[in-house]
Amino acid sequence: MGSLEGRVAIITGAGRGIGREHALLFAAEGAKVVVNDLGATNDGSGADISPAQQVVDEIVAAGGEAVVDGENVADWEGAQRMINAAIETFGDLDILVNNAGILRDRVIVNMTEDEWDAVIAVHLKGHFAPTRWAASYWREQHKAGIHKPRNLVHTSSTSGLFANPGQANYGAAKTGIATLSQIAAKELVRYGVKSNTIAPGARTRLTLATPGLEDIMRPPENTFDQWDPANVSPLVAYLATAGCAFTGETFLVQGGNVTVVESWTRGEGVDRDCRWTVAELAQALAPLARPL
Ligand SMILES: NC(=O)c1ccc[n+]([C@@H]2O[C@H](COP(=O)([O-])OP(=O)(O)OC[C@H]3O[C@@H](n4cnc5c(N)ncnc54)[C@H](O)[C@@H]3O)[C@@H](O)[C@H]2O)c1
Repeated sequence: MGSLEGRVAIITGAGRGIGREHALLFAAEGAKVVVNDLGATNDGSGADISPAQQVVDEIVAAGGEAVVDGENVADWEGAQRMINAAIETFGDLDILVNNAGILRDRVIVNMTEDEWDAVIAVHLKGHFAPTRWAASYWREQHKAGIHKPRNLVHTSSTSGLFANPGQANYGAAKTGIATLSQIAAKELVRYGVKSNTIAPGARTRLTLATPGLEDIMRPPENTFDQWDPANVSPLVAYLATAGCAFTGETFLVQGGNVTVVESWTRGEGVDRDCRWTVAELAQALAPLARPL
């Protein structure tokens, strides 16, 4: 029996790249999969359902169960329709994997409003909107006396967690996603929901568009291909299992490496029982300053 036998999963942005590998593994592990993908280009323009349909065809040909969904994850009603489609097609929803993404890299001084809005929409709203509708459904089910384990898996990035220059829009969204996941973990625990985040590293059209990465990520001849996007999916499948031992965590995952990310923690500080002056603070904080 597969680790996800009989569970119903939605995977967003599953027509290509990492999401495609999640969908194939989830189906092989026994899940019924809604393969969502708008079929956008790298920058989010355009729409083409055929990559997602190919993933569904591949799953069905291998004896699995899957349906295609072409909703835009950043569309409020579209996200609701996607959640409803899973419930109407497969009778329930156990797992939501938020994965869809785009890039519009630019340094802050040159970034346009449109570049900022598009990336924040697909990543941050595109994680929140499906999560919101899934959470509402899970709360209804819980109130109706149906208590089942449910799983959210979100997709962040080292670009956000470790603040990569040139990606203010993407990085802000990706850090926001990691915090959204932690808040979801705290709010939804009462409904049996676990919420975790991954920050993957893999060879996909998104990373291949970054100058220099194609050479670094080229598949080797006879050794382990550490940039194969399929390396990311076993962790996501594990985080989607009913018995997953984690919630509110973020994991780096690339090749054979899986590392827990430490969240924001309080560092050194100064404290006293009255208000500081600017000059006093400048002096008191000086020993804590890092070299510029
Ligand atoms: N590849 C990496 O190394 C890497 C690193 C860090 C984070 N990520 C994240 O992993 C996720 C998957 O990226 P990937 O590298 O597989 O890229 P990809 O371009 O191969 O796949 C992303 C998919 O999302 C779909 N998509 C885009 N906008 C959508 C929307 N509004 N609604 C529905 N689908 C939409 C695209 O059509 C595409 O098929 C993204 O969230 C990305 O930011 C990837």
